[in-house]
Amino acid sequence: MRKNDPKKGFSTRSIHAGHDNGGDPHKPLVTPIYQTASYEFDRVEDLWAFYQKKSDRLAEYARYGTPTQRALEETLMALEGAEDCAVTTSGMNAITSAICTVMNAGDHMVTLNEGYRGTFKMFDQHLARFGLKISYVPVDLEAIKAAVTPQTKLIFLEFPTNPYLKVVDLAELVRFAREKKILTLVDATLSSPLNCNPLSLGVDLVTHSLTKYLNGHNDAIAGAVLGSKELIEKVRSVRGLFGSNPDAHLCYLVSRGIKTFAVRMREHNRSALVVAEYLEKHPKVEKVWYPFVKSNTQLALAQKYLKGGGGVVSFQVKGKDASQEAGLRASTALIEALKIPTLGASMCGVESLIHQPSVMSYYDMDAAARLKEGIYDNLIRFSVGLEDSDDIIADLEQALAKI
Ligand SMILES: Cc1ncc(COP(=O)(O)O)c(C=O)c1O
Repeated sequence: MRKNDPKKGFSTRSIHAGHDNGGDPHKPLVTPIYQTASYEFDRVEDLWAFYQKKSDRLAEYARYGTPTQRALEETLMALEGAEDCAVTTSGMNAITSAICTVMNAGDHMVTLNEGYRGTFKMFDQHLARFGLKISYVPVDLEAIKAAVTPQTKLIFLEFPTNPYLKVVDLAELVRFAREKKILTLVDATLSSPLNCNPLSLGVDLVTHSLTKYLNGHNDAIAGAVLGSKELIEKVRSVRGLFGSNPDAHLCYLVSRGIKTFAVRMREHNRSALVVAEYLEKHPKVEKVWYPFVKSNTQLALAQKYLKGGGGVVSFQVKGKDASQEAGLRASTALIEALKIPTLGASMCGVESLIHQPSVMSYYDMDAAARLKEGIYDNLIRFSVGLEDSDDIIADLEQALAKI
């Protein structure tokens, strides 16, 4: 196992930290895929030593882990500066596992009213059934503070939020939460470990959808929870018994993706900023939502906590009038005129993907209900991939000319 050297740069850690050839005499350069459901124990005594944590064996059954999975966890720990990590079968599962680890029936959680819709659905349709109380508040520290009750056990938020890329003052949030003895859980999928490390600010648990930047190739679904040894040990127990451990093939794919994570992420940061600045100046664009554009009212806060703005740019196109209907027509026309980005779910991979929240994540609501949720029909979420930014701008130019 190549251990993490925190003094090394981001690319070096992405490529080397965690790699494990298991002492194989052939010394494979890449961590092998341990395709096994079970592990051998030569003697009952060895099994006993394992159960009593007196051996360095990883698991007796692959639902509790494989060396391929542990290698991925070690890499993620090196990138996030975490004591421990538990990878999961999806980003959703990372959030569920983290919440089911720290919350009990009757406990209260404060969260933002802005974020990935699937997470909200999971909270409202499922976690609420088990007696978890959830308050949704605007993306504002004072609103979070005001929603806290004596039963509040957890504050959960995305950093930055999907789809408007908003931030809160993380250090101040941690200071407040610690004073109140409330745990903090940050879904840092959209910042990625290159742009922000919330654990270094004192956040208790961080989750990632590895499906996004970390794997980066739009070909795998996976997640991770990172934090202290003590908390992750508990997450690991939940994960093992819920059966949400990713198999070795999936872990191999994600580890492979991570080797180029740092170079990809730097290019996402650069290219998306170019696209955001182009859109900001375009007369047919009403508003651009991107952490590092000049018009962002949160620019100073975003610069304080993010090293880069990431690859996702959300923007609203102008309709003929200010109605939701005109906005929907304009955003639809633009999407259909674009040639490079693919219309599809997900984001943060090498292929540019375009998402129309009103007819995708919020398809089951009417225009008025969507607006109440803060989703404008003229909104487009553009995940800027790694195609040449000149080509992306030229594509936007021709498409905007058509609407
Ligand atoms: C911010 C954020 N967190 C979590 C998830 C869920 O991740 P996964 O699809 O890997 O379960 C998503 C999915 O789009 C997301 O946007």
